[in-house]
Amino acid sequence: MVKREPVDFSKGQYRRMLDWQRKSMFSGETVERYARWVGLTRGMIAVDIGCGLGFLGYTFWEYFGQGGHYIGVDIRHSLLREAGDSSRVWKQNGEASFIAGDVYRLPLSDNSSDMVMCQTLMIHLDKPELALGEMLRLLKPGGIIFCIEPDNFRPTLVPAFTSLPEHDVKTQMLLYRVNLLTNKGRMELGRGDNGIAPRIPHLLAKLGMGNIEVRTREEVSFLEPPYDSKGQREKIENMKKHWLNDDNFRDRLKQHREEFLAGGGDPVEFEKVVKIGEKQREIQLGQMERGEFYLCGAYPLYLIKGVKLR
Ligand SMILES: C[S@@+](CC[C@H](N)C(=O)[O-])C[C@H]1O[C@@H](n2cnc3c(N)ncnc32)[C@H](O)[C@@H]1O
Repeated sequence: MVKREPVDFSKGQYRRMLDWQRKSMFSGETVERYARWVGLTRGMIAVDIGCGLGFLGYTFWEYFGQGGHYIGVDIRHSLLREAGDSSRVWKQNGEASFIAGDVYRLPLSDNSSDMVMCQTLMIHLDKPELALGEMLRLLKPGGIIFCIEPDNFRPTLVPAFTSLPEHDVKTQMLLYRVNLLTNKGRMELGRGDNGIAPRIPHLLAKLGMGNIEVRTREEVSFLEPPYDSKGQREKIENMKKHWLNDDNFRDRLKQHREEFLAGGGDPVEFEKVVKIGEKQREIQLGQMERGEFYLCGAYPLYLIKGVKLR
């Protein structure tokens, strides 16, 4: 039975991703710049929707916490429990609460927060415009919305530069087709749009938000032997352990197959792509073992802010 809903981030590889992927998302230096750009000030009431393990809370606490109040909201109780436990370490001189709630019906009052934020939530939602409308309801006039969302669609069409063998044009066109149909099916299954990020500013404008500004993350994915920084060595280990791990790879293929078929794709075509993907994965693992794998490419993360007009 095909599940017509987003992935469950409280389990398996997706739960683990909330730890290992978040570690390399921003450098401390860019966090400070982004905090200034968004206009974070100490003492804010900041609500984080789809908070997971509280990544936005502990990342930006220094800039809005200290006398402030962070409220993490998520649909998964086990994530909220974990986030609550770990917040004891970072919520110094302020308050952090975690409450269960659905972005479409948030259990918080109108005009009650200085900032409402989310990170990698919109790409998992069936109706992002409704979700944004509900998030804006919580904002005081003059309050800030801050969304960080990856563009997980375009990088699959323009892959990073790597040491892996380049595909010929025919194979590349097949991969494009499969990516397009997979994202189409993903939306049809109600699992969200991997390419939603650049649409968010327009959705906010339609909802009447002002002072909308957009940036992309500065960090670029970069690996070059002999991987002489701690960050690069950790990334190689994490990719081997999590991203390219047999079971995780197969799980993701299963999910992509469902989406591809829901998008009207042909199962025979999908099997061709699986063979290509498995071969590339084998080569990549071999290159990583021998310290020969390299990579350089931007995986865009959009940072979007707007203000609720008075
Ligand atoms: C990719 S995770 C991101 C978690 C966290 N923001 C981070 O960046 O580490 C998406 C989160 O959104 C939550 N989520 C998904 N649908 C939701 C909904 N309808 N309402 C509230 N949270 C939701 C998931 O349970 C998950 O924790």
